[in-house]
Parts: sequence; C-alpha cells; structure tokens
Amino acid sequence: MSTRTQEDFLRAFHAERPAVTTEVFAAARAAGARTGYEALRDRVTGRRRVLDLGCGDGLLLELLAGAPGRELAGADLSHRSLSLARRRPALSGTALVEARAQRLPFRTGAFDACVSHMALMLMADLDQVLAELSRVLAPGALLTCAIGAGGGGTAYELFTELLHPAVDGAPADRRMPALGDRRARDPSRWERCSPRPASPASPSGRR
Ligand SMILES: C[S@@+](CC[C@H](N)C(=O)[O-])C[C@H]1O[C@@H](n2cnc3c(N)ncnc32)[C@H](O)[C@@H]1O
Repeated sequence: MSTRTQEDFLRAFHAERPAVTTEVFAAARAAGARTGYEALRDRVTGRRRVLDLGCGDGLLLELLAGAPGRELAGADLSHRSLSLARRRPALSGTALVEARAQRLPFRTGAFDACVSHMALMLMADLDQVLAELSRVLAPGALLTCAIGAGGGGTAYELFTELLHPAVDGAPADRRMPALGDRRARDPSRWERCSPRPASPASPSGRR
C-alpha cells in the first residue's frame, strides 16, 4: 500500500474521529500507574525544546506545557486533530503544524527531545521519518516513543481494533489499509532501520 494511500486514510479517519486515541488511552493505566502520556512527559523532564510527532489533539503537549520555560511544537498530518489541539488554552503559544513526519518544517537541530505517542508505528517510509528526526534533533537530544510494542504489540492491536469498526462496511476506497512499517512495532527490528541522509530538498524550516 502506498504511503499516500495510507496517509489519505489516516487523514480521512481522523477527520471523523479526531480524538480517538485520547478517548481510549488517556485513561488507560494500571492501578496506581502512569498513562503512556504521563510516562513520556516524565521521560523528557529537563529538556527545553520538545517536539511531539503525530501530536493528534494535543493531550501530551498539554501535559508537557506544565513545565516552565518549555518551547513546544507539535506536528501532525490531521487538520482536524490539530484544530482540537489549538483549542487547548495551555497550547496557545505552541507551534502546531500540519506536516508529514517525512518532511518536517523545522530547522536542523531545533529540538532537545522528540516524544511520539502511538503514532510512529502508523507512519510509512520509516527510514525517511527517522532521517527527518535525526535532522531536527540537536546532538544529544532524546527520542522517546510509545509504540505499543511491549507485550506483543497489544496497544497497536487495540488501536487497529478501534479503527476496524469505523471502517467496516465502508466503500472499498475507505477500508483500512495496512498501516506503517512493521519494524516500528518490533524493538528487535529497530537496528535494521537506517535513516537516510536528509535530501537537499529537505526544508531548512522555520521555528
Ligand atoms: C493514534 S494517533 C495518536 C495521536 C496522539 N499522539 C495521541 O496519542 O493522542 C496517530 C497520529 O499520528 C498522526 N500521523 C500518522 N502518520 C503521520 C505522518 N506520517 N506524519 C504526521 N502525522 C502522522 C495521525 O494523524 C494521528 O494524529
């Protein structure tokens, strides 16, 4: 399935269900434990310039905004999810950009950390995504993701289960394609990912 088909599907899906992930995962915690959002927030304590890749409706950014002095940015390909993020008062000063992870509109070395909650495993052309992250992250920066890979990929499976009822019975062009790159869901395959050098056409970006 082409990258374009996958991304068209995700845009259309999130146009109808722009907050589907937070509806499920914002409350998903073991007794006394943190949510995935809280765990990622805590991983980047002390990092000032933080990008949320595939930020959706902005819940994680809102948690991150609780730290003073933060410079936050969120990128997502869903116009509708971003419009929900923009409604969060805590994100009034945050750069929320409609962009593909494979081509980020940020300058080289712009961030001290990147968080990504339940998004990286949906992205096609993973090597290009990683190349873009390598470019926009400063030396020594941290990339920390929730990808639902632990325990056999159950979170990813839950996400795709959520998607299926929304597209079952849909016309052929609306049915759920295979999404993302399998390597992103299997930590043992991460070493096989090879970020390509950013192409000369990559944006030097704004921030
Ligand atoms: C499962 S949702 C997670 C949203 C949010 N991180 C959360 O956990 O609440 C995945 C998000 O990744 C975004 N996404 C998927 N592929 C993308 C890509 N190639 N570039 C940018 N965003 C992408 C989708 O639009 C969607 O908002």
